[in-house]
Amino acid sequence: MEWSRFHRHKWDQATTFAWKNFSSAPVRRMFSFVTVLGRAALPEDKLKELTELTQEMKSSYSAAKICRYDPTRRRLDNGDYDYNADNDLDNDIGCIPTLSLEPHLVQLMATSRDPEELRYVWRAWRDAAGRPLRGKYTRFVELSNEAARLNGFEDAGDFWRSDYETDDFEDIIDGLWAELRPLYEQLHAYVRRKLIEKYGDTIVPPRGPIPAHLLGNMWAQTWTHILDLTVPYPGRPSVDVTNTLRRQGYSPFDMFRLSESFFISLGLEPMPSTFWQKSLLIKPTDRDVICHASAWDFCNGIDYRIKQCTQITMEDMITAHHEMGHIQYDLQYRNQPFIFRDGANPAFHEAVGDVLALSAATPSHLQEINLLANVDESFENDINFLFSMALDKIAFLPFGYLVDKWRWEVFSGEISESQYNSRWWDLRVNYQGVSAPLLRDEDDFDPGAKFHIPANVPYVRYFVSFIVQFQFHAELCKAAGHSGPLHRCNIYRSAEAGRLLRNVLSLGKSRPWPEALSVLTSGRTNQLEAGPILEYFEPLMSWLESQNKDEFIGWQENEAIVLGVVSSNASVRPFSAVIAALKSPSRRASLLSSTFGLRVTDFETSPVLWLRSDSSKAVQKDGMCLREPWNVLRNPTDFRAQKPHTEFT
Ligand SMILES: *[C@@H]1O[C@H](CO)[C@@H](O)[C@H](O)[C@H]1NC(C)=O
Ligand SMILES: [Zn+2]
Repeated sequence: MEWSRFHRHKWDQATTFAWKNFSSAPVRRMFSFVTVLGRAALPEDKLKELTELTQEMKSSYSAAKICRYDPTRRRLDNGDYDYNADNDLDNDIGCIPTLSLEPHLVQLMATSRDPEELRYVWRAWRDAAGRPLRGKYTRFVELSNEAARLNGFEDAGDFWRSDYETDDFEDIIDGLWAELRPLYEQLHAYVRRKLIEKYGDTIVPPRGPIPAHLLGNMWAQTWTHILDLTVPYPGRPSVDVTNTLRRQGYSPFDMFRLSESFFISLGLEPMPSTFWQKSLLIKPTDRDVICHASAWDFCNGIDYRIKQCTQITMEDMITAHHEMGHIQYDLQYRNQPFIFRDGANPAFHEAVGDVLALSAATPSHLQEINLLANVDESFENDINFLFSMALDKIAFLPFGYLVDKWRWEVFSGEISESQYNSRWWDLRVNYQGVSAPLLRDEDDFDPGAKFHIPANVPYVRYFVSFIVQFQFHAELCKAAGHSGPLHRCNIYRSAEAGRLLRNVLSLGKSRPWPEALSVLTSGRTNQLEAGPILEYFEPLMSWLESQNKDEFIGWQENEAIVLGVVSSNASVRPFSAVIAALKSPSRRASLLSSTFGLRVTDFETSPVLWLRSDSSKAVQKDGMCLREPWNVLRNPTDFRAQKPHTEFT
């Protein structure tokens, strides 16, 4: 709040200057940023309300816990697991919710192969984390829009998009997605077939969207944890070095040192000593912290920190690179005027660490640092490697887009409050080709079960980052003199690549991002381009096309399967009985509520459930430093000027 007042004071002064007439372009640019006040433009009472609301949503999300899955308990007469009872966290069934998202639920979603357990966890998390936020979020949208309008924007989405300093941002994103969608669809079709081999076609529809709980991740946003079910050529050396890290006794600290050594090998900055003293790299046991990994710039040129509840896994090793990339960027632009100390755009900030990780995760680099024994560069190994990268980088793309597409439409009013959840699922089905494993309705608030919604962190930056990082990779590889396929490039120890990267990063936000791209590409382009990411995955694309010759590519929404209807023992209650009940409106409401514990309010106007034509299954349709507390600070007075723009996906 104090910072808001200070900022507001500056704003009052700046907006009264005729700054648009200044002759110096950098000074004009500075003023254009200072005159955007953000939420601090609100009158004091509303600012307070919005600040508290955001804080409440975040705490509520991070405090959410669920009960353990216990298949031996609470069955309905027909054998169905009794979701209704088990999720009623406040009643007296004696369940004490103890499982939190990190690490428990993340691990469960990643490792469980029991579809019922996954379905339970998937739903219980949304009940605990998403649902309670719905009312708060509605008010939050009103206040955010009001703040945006006071800053001269149409709504809060318009305000967010202004970070990208271009009028056709949505068209740019649509264009990129259109180029990448064919690759996504090939990956989707292949993974769907592998999941059918594992779970059967009564759970995974051959021509439909994939049920969202089977992809190894709470939000189906990356699919790396089902590599074991999908790996193209099984029985070959795994490029996941998790076990080696553990065997070699790596600590969280060691993993960050490893990441730092990559930056240093390029001639970039080592982490300052305060980083090692003050970062929080291990989950504390004596207090609750928000475990979502983030990087912090305290805006004093000295104090930079990372907060990450680090596990010893390859995934967290990559995350360590990601977070350290934020700090490296912070360090590179620290000599810029205060107001330009930011990424060229938010996606650039997300990309830096990932760019290094693209090299760091190559089998050749892992061998170089003794994490992998000799792996020959056979076609099969290449495909395995590219496939595991695609489960991360390609699988993520539609989710990376739709989170903000949903929010932009919410902020603009195109999605009304009564459609929050159904429109969320429209986007999930249309873009990702995943469907909810259970009926959803408008009492649910599934967007709220994803950190960035309650925490109010814009998301499309990750989509853009996943594309622009391959542009970076391609250019740095060129600078490093790499020849051969792009996915084999490793820029470790290349001073030339380091110099080029430094030239781009040290600009901070002093120039519009197209100019930064122009520096990166030596003037070849100033646009976001899908070319490099497509080039990187080209060998995989060809392989997937040949594998998918007989597959249905894409998905039909009306083929989706609602697994809530499939009981653990299907013979106990024939589907025909369920279908018959669903056809009668009065019985439908009671069935839905007794079977799924759902209150289906406006079922007729917003149908979320159709019947499959074969009647065998039911189907579903559907620069400024901020002021959030570094919640592990010992001395809370020194966080006034901190800059946590940098959360993890
Ligand atoms: C991008 O490059 C084009 C063509 O070279 C140029 O006309 C345009 O002004 C550049 N855009 C920016 C924002 O630098
Ligand atoms: Zn990040």
